[in-house]
Amino acid sequence: MKAKMTVNRAFTVSEIDSRIYGSFLEHLGRAVYGGIYEPGHKNADNKGFRNDVKALVKELKTSFIRYPGGNFVSGYNWEDGIGPVKNRPKRLDLAWSTIETNEVGLHEIMDWSEEVNAEINMAINLGSRGIDAARNIVEYCNHPSGTYWSDLRRTNGAKEPFKIKTWCLGNEMDGPWQIGAKTAEEYGRLAAESAKVMKLVDPSIELVVCGSSFIKMPTFAEWEATVLEHTYEHIDYLSLHSYYGNQKNDIKNYLAMSVGMDRFIKSVTAICDYIKAKKHSKKTINLSFDEWNIWYHSHEKDSKNEPWQKAPPILEDIYNFEDALLLGCLLITLLKNCDRVKIACLAQLVNVIAPIMTETGGSAWRQTTFFPFKQAATYGHGTVLRHNLDVAVYDSEEYSDVPLIESVVIHNENDNEITVFAVNRSEEENIEFLLTLQDFVVESVIEFSEICGFDKKQTNTVNSAPVEPKDSEKSSVDGNILKAILKPLSWNMIRVKVCGE
Ligand code: AHR
Repeated sequence: MKAKMTVNRAFTVSEIDSRIYGSFLEHLGRAVYGGIYEPGHKNADNKGFRNDVKALVKELKTSFIRYPGGNFVSGYNWEDGIGPVKNRPKRLDLAWSTIETNEVGLHEIMDWSEEVNAEINMAINLGSRGIDAARNIVEYCNHPSGTYWSDLRRTNGAKEPFKIKTWCLGNEMDGPWQIGAKTAEEYGRLAAESAKVMKLVDPSIELVVCGSSFIKMPTFAEWEATVLEHTYEHIDYLSLHSYYGNQKNDIKNYLAMSVGMDRFIKSVTAICDYIKAKKHSKKTINLSFDEWNIWYHSHEKDSKNEPWQKAPPILEDIYNFEDALLLGCLLITLLKNCDRVKIACLAQLVNVIAPIMTETGGSAWRQTTFFPFKQAATYGHGTVLRHNLDVAVYDSEEYSDVPLIESVVIHNENDNEITVFAVNRSEEENIEFLLTLQDFVVESVIEFSEICGFDKKQTNTVNSAPVEPKDSEKSSVDGNILKAILKPLSWNMIRVKVCGE
């Protein structure tokens, strides 16, 4: 079977914002305590943060980390996490029914994020708190000095402001499970006033307002429109959240779920533009897909969890090969929509529905999903090209006309490279992929790397990582046509050298 794809150097979607390779670290389960932070571990640094975990976070190349929640943030007092650790209060975390010790707080996370080369995306509490706590944390983090909160930061050891650029105005505020859940009217007004005041403190910041918790919320679409009516002139991005799972063990439908993600993105874009038109505004609101991932393996186990433990092992999905394929399809979908999706956060980063796992007192290891993310975050930079794809399609239980190939082509102008990411969704067919690169002078294939040939349910473990990329030789260049064989059920990355202008 053949798939023909055509791109042209001049026809572009958009430049990729590197924040699309974001992730998420919540005070939840063993993400922070027992994940990135484990004093006494043989690999811990002098502050208690594990060097082996830092190395894996750096290898993953995530550039941007949403923090500290999630549901957790809606009951969090950020002031609990500053000042001498011995004075910090232990609290009930009502979001996850656990104990929060506050050993890790603002300064610790800012120092750690610098070490792993990532920027922090700070979420504020608009559940149990409001405008006052919001303006104070911006002043604490971003104001240089000479005021109560900025001088307190200096006293606590950070002479220079943290300069946090991107802030989330709460989390999933439409969800009945959320501490301080609100109607769209209530949230819209609070988010607008908080945003206004936060930007009075620091006009250079960018703000993300909450969209619906997921597309199947009964208030979806109406929620987005009402919240944007209130906040449009004060905010910069609208959030989307979505988790996927193969509960029905139907791989055809599972791998088609990125088609649903694409539809979700297009719908939310349309709502943003509807409000833009209604307001006769020059401003465009872009999207922050700040929670996306696969989440279903751990549901049953977590329903039996005992409350009020410190850092219990919850939401610890162990991913398999088919999960890595879907994760690849989802990443490609985000990239194909990079004209509007400027921020995206894989939820989450360590231990909690995460690409990186740790053993308490033991090793840190890479899940199957680690690899497509790492390759995209490493090589998926530059400009996404518009494409035309001619390939067979199929219907699944929930989706129609699903192409057998999910693919994106990126032109990295700085390095004179084309990078192709592609998933072959077919269980049976080798697909001969023919990519015509119009207006490019193609030199050679630099690298063709694939993840394929595994049992769909194959997982990695702490001791072995069978599911990882391997080099393939099955590609060639003929003039400006790239030819590659995409094996059945495969994730593929092909990098091609092209001539400069
Ligand atoms: O990522 C896990 C949880 O999923 C987050 O805390 C919440 O925002 C979402 O419902």
